[in-house]
Amino acid sequence: MSLIYRRRANQPSFTHVINDYFGEIKPFSKRIGKWYFYIPLIIMKTIEWSIYRWYKTPIRRFYGVKGNELIYMITKRCNEKCPKCGIWKTPEPDNEHIDISIFLNCLKMLNENLYQVTITGGEPLLLAEDVLKIAEESRKHEILLLTFTNGVLITEDFLKRYAALNHKLVISIDTIDESKWTDFRGKATFEKVMENIKLSKQYLGRNLQIQSVIASESEKEIDSIQSFCKDLVVLHTTQRYLDFGGVWNNPINTPKTTSNDVACAARKNIIIYPNGDVVKCFDHRRILRAKEPLGNIEKEDIIQILCKKRATEVSKIMKTCNFPCKEMACNVPEIIYN
Ligand SMILES: C[S@@+](CC[C@H](N)C(=O)[O-])C[C@H]1O[C@@H](n2cnc3c(N)ncnc32)[C@H](O)[C@@H]1O
Ligand code: SF4
Ligand code: SF4
Repeated sequence: MSLIYRRRANQPSFTHVINDYFGEIKPFSKRIGKWYFYIPLIIMKTIEWSIYRWYKTPIRRFYGVKGNELIYMITKRCNEKCPKCGIWKTPEPDNEHIDISIFLNCLKMLNENLYQVTITGGEPLLLAEDVLKIAEESRKHEILLLTFTNGVLITEDFLKRYAALNHKLVISIDTIDESKWTDFRGKATFEKVMENIKLSKQYLGRNLQIQSVIASESEKEIDSIQSFCKDLVVLHTTQRYLDFGGVWNNPINTPKTTSNDVACAARKNIIIYPNGDVVKCFDHRRILRAKEPLGNIEKEDIIQILCKKRATEVSKIMKTCNFPCKEMACNVPEIIYN
């Protein structure tokens, strides 16, 4: 089954459709007060139900050919303790971590829709073999993979195998000053990361990027990181400080990089948490209708999850949503289907 094309064999059965119809119509009919409204309102409700079930609904239009980004927070576990980020404080227990085969299946099902897969965390390289499996699957479908890492666990063996698949690796650093490093990372990993950046450049060439967070604690570091990247011939990107549960602060007077008139592009995203829960943006809890995950890929098929009525409603709400998280790199427009 696909989000874009024809109906396929594993669509709901006839009995499923009947149950679905009566499941909506029965409670609706009980709410009709006047007997003479009964038939017209039931007809209208039936039309509405048919539209949601059979018509190419707006949710399907959000998911176009190569129009979407699949973002996998592969784990919340981390080997660093950065004060800018609170993710490392709540690592998932083993029983809340899906098997990699479940994510790979989800990637296969969505492959026609995706222009990019992004792996983030926690620290993805704690699960380097799983990252490589995702890299292989993405390459099979000619989808670009972007993996974010703190750079500590990079090895030559990982780089050889990752480089052969021609994907991008983003190493995050917020200073190149050794005296500040341990405060910024919570661990004394300066030398290891610097060594690994140079090794990564050798193997990945232009497929290596460096990203820094601009906060009041790090803004003075950005110029020196930029010249370091320039000397190394590596693309440097920045990300404004946002609420990741950390204790850093936003720099005063930082201009907004997005306009209120442009819809939040997070609508193009499909985000999977370590336990398989599916959401549309990392800040979904700010939206009442999106507080609860849309589903879980361990229990349901991803296409069914994305075709739920609530998924359509959430995507519509996101169109006019204007929280600061709109400025996160993954929420900036790429291709958007209206
Ligand atoms: C959460 S980390 C996970 C991947 C990996 N551990 C790393 O540090 O690259 C993903 C990206 O988010 C950035 N990040 C962390 N805390 C942030 C914050 N408070 N605001 C904005 N970006 C943040 C990191 O610098 C990194 O580039
Ligand atoms: S930013 Fe990355 S390395 Fe730092 S604590 Fe968060 S997940 Fe770990
Ligand atoms: S503004 Fe934030 S909460 Fe709203 S849709 Fe965008 S990322 Fe989600």
